[in-house]
Amino acid sequence: MKTVFSLEQIRKISSELRKNGRTIGFIPTMGALHAGHLKLVKESKNKNDVTVVSIFVNPAQFSPTEDLVKYPRPFEQDKQLLEQEKIDYLFYPNAKTMYPNGFQTYVTPNNLSNILEGKSRPGHFSGVATVVLKLSNLVNPIHAYFGQKDFQQSVVVKQMVYDLNLPININVVPTVRDKDGLALSSRNIFLNPQERSQALSLYQSLLLAKKLILSGNKSVQLIKKEMKNYLQKNKLIQLDYIEICNPENLSPLKVTPKKAVILIAAFVGKTRLIDNIII
Ligand code: PAJ
Repeated sequence: MKTVFSLEQIRKISSELRKNGRTIGFIPTMGALHAGHLKLVKESKNKNDVTVVSIFVNPAQFSPTEDLVKYPRPFEQDKQLLEQEKIDYLFYPNAKTMYPNGFQTYVTPNNLSNILEGKSRPGHFSGVATVVLKLSNLVNPIHAYFGQKDFQQSVVVKQMVYDLNLPININVVPTVRDKDGLALSSRNIFLNPQERSQALSLYQSLLLAKKLILSGNKSVQLIKKEMKNYLQKNKLIQLDYIEICNPENLSPLKVTPKKAVILIAAFVGKTRLIDNIII
């Protein structure tokens, strides 16, 4: 594995590879890697000649009140994990390189960036779309890999690729969970044992909703109410939202049709977690 720091170098490497007909699979990350990230890496390795992972904690997607400074950065450990996975290139740019003085051009999805996560985190998806576009321009992949865990992010990226005619295939990989069901997240390390055990109720409430829907309950209002009742027992959980949406465009549903995504976001103590399930 080769670690690449500069924009010029990664651009040179990717254009050489493409010229030689090699397929590039790309996994953008913010590091603090866990088995969820590594699942994306494995998918890419299975399907492409060359796999590139980027680690960049993107300041543009954090609001001033969020955890940019606190975000974990175990670089040596990440590097080791990626070496074990035998990826080809680790792209590790710094913030000054990605956002030099005078930077001013952002990509902003219109509607998708104002709902759900976007409503709670203004500017977040503009930051995500912008960095994913910048990184993709540099890495020039045929396939890029995103986790279902950040469901709205995957919808935003697919929409951007469609709207801007980007020649990239977006692959969405199912959420990797701990044995007990908690979705793996780089932020889970902030949970103390009590919070960790209550955090599990997010996934359990999603499973409850799934059970209700599969047994014939169609009213979104009723399903949300049952989920909220279930979560209320966990005093460390402060619910942000539960929504049941069309998985293609995230428009909210009143009744559950055959296909839906249920999305949840909550603070567990001071840590904000998200999860979702597709029905
Ligand atoms: P990060 O949170 O590091 O996640 C990188 C990728 O790993 C994302 O596509 C995310 O959905 C996926 N992922 C995280 N946890 C997962 C899990 N438990 N199972 C499967 N996939 C999982 O998401 C970002 O970084 C950033 O917003 C980024 C796209 C890199 C742009 O800065």
